[in-house]
Amino acid sequence: MQKQHEETMIALTGLSKQYDGLTALDSIHLQVKKAEIFGIIGKSGAGKSTLIRCVNLLEKPSQGTVIVNQQSLTTLSRHALRAARRKMGMIFQHFNLLSCRTVYDNIALPLEFCNMSKKAIAHAINPLIELTGLSDKKSNYPNELSGGQKQRVAIARALACKPTVLLSDEATSALDPETTHLILQLLKNIRDTLNLTILLITHEMSVIKACCDKVGILDKGKLVEQNEVGEFFAHPNTPIAKNFIVSSLPQTLPAAIADHVLVDERLNTHPVLRLWFFGDAATQPIVGQLINQFKLRINILQAQVESIKKHIMGILIVAVDGDKTQVTASIAYLKQLGIQVEVLGYVPNDIIPFA
Ligand SMILES: Nc1ncnc2c1ncn2[C@@H]1O[C@H](COP(=O)(O)OP(=O)(O)O)[C@@H](O)[C@H]1O
Ligand SMILES: [Mg+2]
Repeated sequence: MQKQHEETMIALTGLSKQYDGLTALDSIHLQVKKAEIFGIIGKSGAGKSTLIRCVNLLEKPSQGTVIVNQQSLTTLSRHALRAARRKMGMIFQHFNLLSCRTVYDNIALPLEFCNMSKKAIAHAINPLIELTGLSDKKSNYPNELSGGQKQRVAIARALACKPTVLLSDEATSALDPETTHLILQLLKNIRDTLNLTILLITHEMSVIKACCDKVGILDKGKLVEQNEVGEFFAHPNTPIAKNFIVSSLPQTLPAAIADHVLVDERLNTHPVLRLWFFGDAATQPIVGQLINQFKLRINILQAQVESIKKHIMGILIVAVDGDKTQVTASIAYLKQLGIQVEVLGYVPNDIIPFA
């Protein structure tokens, strides 16, 4: 028998979905292991919601198989599918609470559908109310709650039937950064305490960084890249993956400088380089090397270093002054170290003087 943490909870094979000639999903292969938090990131219209809705068959795949909890969902009878769906909780961006019901009654709803007794319902949901930090809100109505509290209610409701899988479609997209952080912490806590498997959809890299073990990039219906999160940040392969990572780092130059950056090199200008470094390359003393080895002078305009899992990554924007052949040689050298180098433009001497 496989070890529990290696057990596959969700397996999508050759999953495709077409809507009247539009291919929303194109041959997706994906496996999510037990108690893993797997994040799917993609731009608007990439097919994220379609993908997650195919996992619980709210959307019927055009081709391919969906296996959840060892059951092939596309082959199940309606009755068996209903039972299988109960083991998959789902949360949404706009919470989808019933405004006429209290917090307690919203959370109890899925169990009422199962004709459970009042006593059994209380027994099942009181621990969830505690787990989601809603003990003092039981009798409140949704319009008396903050966004974060509403999402907590939705999470507790999604857990009511003791699911093994939680599907989250942009659950933090309507929340401010601080509340987002708390909700993502809650999801991690739930994974740890309930051994829950979470498939999470987002358009924000910060969400992936904050709580996912693995990440997949969905682009125009194709899963173009998937990896363990630390590895992904250390070795992104596709341009879209790199763009998502770059977009999650501060990269804008101070406006006073950005306004003066020229596209072409001219007399008395300095190249502005963006160095983007991951993994091993991030721990090299590169600024010192540029100064000593290539006799360049370096003006740091922007710098940010972060650690994700065990990996370090960072971005450094510098203006350089020095012999032109040395600048070219230094760029080749940096690339050889695995650092990505882009020339953002050229900044005139009087904006960033090196004298
Ligand atoms: N029910 C539907 N009928 C027709 N087209 C749809 C339907 N649902 C989604 N689409 C289309 O499929 C593509 C992917 O949509 P969606 O999965 O909602 O993307 P995302 O969640 O990544 O923004 C879009 O082009 C969208 O217009
Ligand atoms: Mg969507």
